Amino acid sequence: MTTVLLLGSGGREHALGRALAASAETLHVAPGNPGLASLGTLHNIDACDPEAVVALARQAGADLVVVGPEAPLVAGVADAVREAGIDCFGPSAAAARLEGSKAFAKDVMRAAGVPTADARVCETPEQAAAALDAFGPPYVVKNDGLAAGKGVVVTTDRDAALAHAAACGRVVVEEFLDGPEVSLFAVCDGTTAVPLLPAQDFKRVGDGDAGSNTGGMGAYCPLPWAPDDLAAEVMAQVVDPTLAEMRRRGTPFTGLLYAGLALTSRGMRVVEFNARFGDPETQAVLALLATPLAPVLLAAARGELAELPPLAWRDGAAVVVVEAASGYPGAPVLGGSVELPADVSDAWTIQAGTGLADGQLVASGGRVLGVVGLGEDLEAARERAYAHLSQVRFPDGFHRTDIGAPH
Ligand code: AMP
Ligand code: GLY
Repeated sequence: MTTVLLLGSGGREHALGRALAASAETLHVAPGNPGLASLGTLHNIDACDPEAVVALARQAGADLVVVGPEAPLVAGVADAVREAGIDCFGPSAAAARLEGSKAFAKDVMRAAGVPTADARVCETPEQAAAALDAFGPPYVVKNDGLAAGKGVVVTTDRDAALAHAAACGRVVVEEFLDGPEVSLFAVCDGTTAVPLLPAQDFKRVGDGDAGSNTGGMGAYCPLPWAPDDLAAEVMAQVVDPTLAEMRRRGTPFTGLLYAGLALTSRGMRVVEFNARFGDPETQAVLALLATPLAPVLLAAARGELAELPPLAWRDGAAVVVVEAASGYPGAPVLGGSVELPADVSDAWTIQAGTGLADGQLVASGGRVLGVVGLGEDLEAARERAYAHLSQVRFPDGFHRTDIGAPH
């Protein structure tokens, strides 16, 4: 049995915590949320404070620290934990720049020969304007730094593209990629990488992919329409060369490499890298993972992934539908009461932006819940997720009605 300290407080962490608790690991979580409170011991520390995390890991007797979100990674929490001699699943601050800086990620991809959108880093409005005109519409303008999934504007409106560039300062302007998007997660130990099931995330807030970009409004896996060798292709073209390049630079990547990909008519292209599990995709992907999670993450932390047997997956499909607070991704209405149906074996709720007020579960963030359904195929899983969601009482909430629907 492993004692795990899990850092974070969202839906991704609740899904990770659920998978870890399923194999009876002792779980400590900081800071956690009410969903995680039923799975382990919560500690109210700042997950971005390296010293506080190390102290807690020692006090809890943690064998493994799992870093959920990007902010502690960029703050160097994984470095501090490893320096303290404790195994850590999560990249160093230097390696997390793959997510923390879009310009850095582009540089690594160029050096590694990884297919991605042509892009220019722009520091001034004049450079941004020139880049927009070079690539033409639709325009893609990305804030160079971390922006919680909201730093990207894709628009045919040149003025809106310019305004986003001006508001961000340093931006990456890039060519528009058409084609379906896929999220492929790879568990990495610096040298070896093991793919999880490809998943698809629904980034836009409204049905039919209308409205603004969000952190993700739902997801499903596996992808019945994707080629069978998709994961192998992504490993060969994207993940393995990226790991080799990061090693060559002296900053090996240990943790979860999330490749956001567009399958364009000209082949696969990386849209973005993240240095952590994606949310909500993780909620669907881990729902199908049959192999206990803790030994996999521990092997990655120790550089021993090559010794693990292949991962085992449940048959069927998983769908997660996000229930968000009205107003998200703008200013969400917070504080609304939330009542959840009991979890059952093929449908359950994951808590993301929840808190407690006078003992009552309330919304405390834009994405409040993920409702997961399992089924023998995608359609059955989708029906199960929406049936379970219909039992959630959250008057201030909304969700997309087309997650996992044929497109
Ligand atoms: P990112 O934060 O880089 O993942 O971008 C968020 C979302 O913006 C992506 O999931 C895409 O839907 C969209 N996007 C980003 N880059 C491009 C691109 N080059 N072409 C088309 N859409 C893009
Ligand atoms: N699902 C998108 C993300 O985690 O960034």
